[in-house]
Amino acid sequence: MKAGKIQDQLGRPVRDLRISVTDRCNFRCVYCMPRQQFGAGHAFLPRRDLLSYEEITRVARAFVGLGVKKLRITGGEPLIRHELHHLVYELAAIPGVEDLSMTTNASRLTREMAHTLKDAGLKRVTVSLDALDDRTFMAINDVDFPVGKVLAGLENAEAAGLAPIKVNMVVKRGVNEHSIVPMARFFHGTGHILRFIEFMDVGHSNGWRLDDVLPATQVVEQINSELPIEPADPNYRGEVARRWRYRDGGGEIGVISSVTQPFCRECARARLSAKGDLYTCLFATDGHDLRHQIRDRRLSDAELQDHIASIWRRRADRYSQIRTEHTVNLPKIEMSYIGG
Ligand code: GTP
Ligand code: 5AD
Ligand code: SF4
Ligand code: SF4
Repeated sequence: MKAGKIQDQLGRPVRDLRISVTDRCNFRCVYCMPRQQFGAGHAFLPRRDLLSYEEITRVARAFVGLGVKKLRITGGEPLIRHELHHLVYELAAIPGVEDLSMTTNASRLTREMAHTLKDAGLKRVTVSLDALDDRTFMAINDVDFPVGKVLAGLENAEAAGLAPIKVNMVVKRGVNEHSIVPMARFFHGTGHILRFIEFMDVGHSNGWRLDDVLPATQVVEQINSELPIEPADPNYRGEVARRWRYRDGGGEIGVISSVTQPFCRECARARLSAKGDLYTCLFATDGHDLRHQIRDRRLSDAELQDHIASIWRRRADRYSQIRTEHTVNLPKIEMSYIGG
């Protein structure tokens, strides 16, 4: 096997590895970890089931050998995991890693934490924020977490140089669509890149209905009528977000239209869950147990890389292109296990 040259069944390389470090979160966003399913009775993964930082780094190194250039740390909420900067340090040191980022709700992004992460080698963060008014935001996060504290975390990230900062807003029809234009105005001219994400049928507990999805085209129309925008070219092949630039020079926004305009054709993303399962699609029903290969079968680095390559070569996922009423109800993996 020649490292760095693998392709899946649809000719797609592997470029991006998204690493979930925990299935826990201090929020209960209605579209991700609804309280009914993730309440007091929910069993989170016991610590011994989580991959250690050493194990995660081994897996990441194997992926980099196969062509991965971008790593993203996700959760649940990644900053819930202890001493996360130790992992950042190890990942940043892998030769060939060009981008190392993290998706966070920013609730624990103190000044000190932001600087520690930056010093360890984190390049940038993406902050999840769905509204600017507490009422709407609290109705979504369902733990009464105020907007101001997320914005404080975002400022800490900016001060530490974890930029360009992206802001993810999941749009749910009738819930926060009134926040689209206020969010656009707020981040216009700040250098932060706001992205609007169509509400997706990830997992099987968020009660997804097509009616709840506000198509990205309507988001673009709403913004364009207040703050004129024009399309911009992608930064790289297979970029998830479609870019739009403000005509007045106020920066850019992105729209992620996974439901209405799927982007599977260029999908070069692999996902590693906190317990070491490899998922070749965000909407997969089954993962490939890498922890077993590492801990029980004790594969060498070269064997682990071969094993991953053979999984990738068999990959044919294109869920968003074949989504139907039937697939929506499949027992898919939850977002909080694979971090979006
Ligand atoms: P950068 O371009 O590196 O900043 O990252 P990104 O655009 O991949 O952004 P991010 O990782 O924050 O992804 C944004 C959101 O898009 C995720 O949280 C998911 O909701 C969605 N998303 C990302 N990758 C995929 C994918 O492969 N399939 C689908 N359907 N949705 C995705
Ligand atoms: N649909 C779209 N985006 C989602 N996210 C979580 N659940 C969903 C969903 N059902 C987003 C979060 C976060 C990222 C990790 O994924 O807002 O920004
Ligand atoms: Fe937590 Fe992010 Fe899921 Fe919200 S979207 S519950 S912040 S992991
Ligand atoms: Fe990739 Fe699956 Fe998303 Fe399609 S649905 S873009 S294959 S993760």
